Amino acid sequence: MSLMVVSVVCVGFFLVQRTCPYTGGQDKTFLSVQPSALVPQGGHVTLRCYYRRGFNNFTNFTLYKDDRSHVPIFHNRIFQQSFLMGPVTPADAGTYRCRGSYPHSPTEWSALSDPLAIMVTGVHRKPSLLALPGPLVKSGETVTLQCSSDIVFEHFFLHSEVTFEKPLHLVGELHGGGSQANYSINSTTSDLEETFRCYGSVTHSPYVLSAPSDPLDIVITGRLPSGPCHPRRNLQMLRFFPYRTLPVVRPE
Ligand SMILES: *[C@@H]1O[C@H](CO)[C@@H](O)[C@H](O)[C@H]1NC(C)=O
Ligand SMILES: *[C@@H]1O[C@H](CO)[C@@H](O)[C@H](O)[C@H]1NC(C)=O
Ligand SMILES: *[C@@H]1O[C@H](CO)[C@@H](O)[C@H](O)[C@H]1NC(C)=O
Ligand SMILES: *[C@@H]1O[C@H](CO)[C@@H](O)[C@H](O)[C@H]1NC(C)=O
Repeated sequence: MSLMVVSVVCVGFFLVQRTCPYTGGQDKTFLSVQPSALVPQGGHVTLRCYYRRGFNNFTNFTLYKDDRSHVPIFHNRIFQQSFLMGPVTPADAGTYRCRGSYPHSPTEWSALSDPLAIMVTGVHRKPSLLALPGPLVKSGETVTLQCSSDIVFEHFFLHSEVTFEKPLHLVGELHGGGSQANYSINSTTSDLEETFRCYGSVTHSPYVLSAPSDPLDIVITGRLPSGPCHPRRNLQMLRFFPYRTLPVVRPE
């Protein structure tokens, strides 16, 4: 069986926003989650709806799930300041959007935010994560991060605290009765010195994830540290999973 993925969108732009100070811009609705969009089963997360990213939050807002943008997740419920979700179950995994009412004109509702994926972890057995040829990488060399499992995962998500703001989606391929995905990074063009973890999920519930793999530390040898607010050169090469459009995985 071969798998085909339709649509991958680069949203590295948001990383630029995060690594450098806010410099103005149009009002746009954003949904944020803390502490992380990856939430262990039974854990809690706080959702807030903003009209200036990181600055002004809506006092009153509603939430929508899984592209059903005409049905608020709780009938007639308006959240004030924030919504504490939890203890989460696999049924909470999915994409969320919000819409808020402006403090200066409470009857006016904002546009819908971009979708935010909440991923519930710890539901399947953990995959393993390896660095090939190894976790010590000479500057300029390419390292391959390999997630694998004896479970057939159609999706893998590679996560790190720094490099990827959102978990990076990889398509799982059949491998020796289980599944595997590789992701290669050129250490010259990437700030990859950090800790990675990977998760797996199956087609019918892509945001219901396994437990995290054991952490993998990548160490780059022979390089000068970079400055604190340089838009990272790896932005162009990182391709993030578009939460709106899940890859359409079709057996051929
Ligand atoms: C959200 O808004 C409230 C008041 O409207 C404010 O106290 C709070 O600090 C805001 N939170 C963030 C993270 O901006
Ligand atoms: C928020 O909603 C409450 C109750 O629905 C309402 O009383 C209040 O005026 C609203 N606040 C704002 C700032 O829209
Ligand atoms: C991942 O890379 C390794 C080493 O190059 C290779 O043996 C393996 O077949 C690759 N797996 C996939 C799914 O591409
Ligand atoms: C890594 O990137 C640098 C700069 O773009 C390039 O010169 C080098 O050949 C690349 N290395 C590999 C192994 O692709």
